[in-house]
Amino acid sequence: MKRYMIIFLCVAALAFTATQVLAGAAPGTGIVGSKHDMNVVSNPDSQNRVCAFCHTPHHALDDASADYLPLWSHELTSLTYTDYSSITFDGAGFPAGDTLTGPSRLCMSCHDGAVAVDQHYGGIGTDVRSGDSWGEIGVGAGGDLSNDHPIGFDYTAIAGVVDDEIRLATTPVANPSVNTITELLWDDQWMTCASCHDVHNTDANEDYFLYGPQANSDFCLICHDK
Ligand code: HEC
Ligand code: HEC
Ligand code: HEC
Ligand code: HEC
Repeated sequence: MKRYMIIFLCVAALAFTATQVLAGAAPGTGIVGSKHDMNVVSNPDSQNRVCAFCHTPHHALDDASADYLPLWSHELTSLTYTDYSSITFDGAGFPAGDTLTGPSRLCMSCHDGAVAVDQHYGGIGTDVRSGDSWGEIGVGAGGDLSNDHPIGFDYTAIAGVVDDEIRLATTPVANPSVNTITELLWDDQWMTCASCHDVHNTDANEDYFLYGPQANSDFCLICHDK
């Protein structure tokens, strides 16, 4: 009886640890324990703070060249980027003048393959992720966004205006927390990294912090009428 009790307790403890570890990893379960919790995926903070890798209550970064810095604590990228281009892409005619407008610049704090992902609070990080290949996270490595889905253009100037296969921004989105495409756009207008990914893993309902399911490419069909 005693032995069974011990086995039971061991199994229960293991199950508990597993849930703890997975808690933030599942889509929509928050940032703690997720791939954006640097304590889990990189070198931990001295006090195990999670937000600290990106935000700070005091002494936040002040950079006049950035249009959005929500109490930012992470060094910004200093690269200049080559944009996506193609003969059928309509966004190039409506430039924001800043590919990294809105939250995209914040993503490139870590995904530029130049600034360390564990850098924060004025300290120096060591974990630089510079690979721009399948499964690697250096999305704009070497200042190259030409092989990535376009960002930094005015969605509303395209949808139904020059491209009738892009859904109107007022189109509903099948996500419990996001009502329309407008809510995915920076300043209700601009396409950014955060139009597809939810950095805090709160409204994501698919892996990769995505706002929609990959199956049947429902995610792409949020905006594309194909
Ligand atoms: C990996 C980096 C990262 C971490 C860690 C992080 N954030 Fe953020 N946060 C961002 C980015 C990027 C934005 C801008 C996002 C956007 O516009 O979609 C943002 C925006 C915000 C905003 C303003 C916009 C909003 O959503 O209300 C608040 C508040 C915020 N974060 C709070 C937090 C708190 C609290 C934590 C810790 C529990 C946290 N964040 C952890 C990157 C991060
Ligand atoms: C503090 C650094 C940091 C910031 C800021 C940051 N990321 Fe990340 N991100 C990471 C790291 C590190 C990983 C890889 C984690 C791992 O798998 O080891 C990652 C992984 C990801 C992934 C893959 C998740 C998965 O399930 O494999 C996506 C998508 C992503 N980030 C998007 C973004 C977007 C979009 C922004 C801005 C809105 C952003 N990140 C801001 C550090 C950051
Ligand atoms: C149009 C939607 C869209 C935009 C915009 C977008 N992504 Fe992604 N991203 C995806 C999808 C979908 C995946 C999942 C992998 C796949 O299906 O190929 C992904 C995967 C990733 C990954 C995981 C690594 C990998 O390549 O598998 C990272 C990191 C990432 N994105 C970061 C970013 C950053 C940073 C930006 C802005 C420069 C950005 N994304 C803009 C749709 C987008
Ligand atoms: C949040 C909205 C949104 C999502 C989600 C989205 N896209 Fe896009 N995408 C756009 C817009 C807007 C354009 C610019 C369309 C134009 O030029 O007329 C675009 C451009 C493109 C282009 C370039 C077209 C060209 O003419 O060169 C391709 C290809 C593309 N998207 C594929 C995808 C795929 C595949 C997915 C899913 C992984 C996806 N998109 C998800 C909004 C989105």
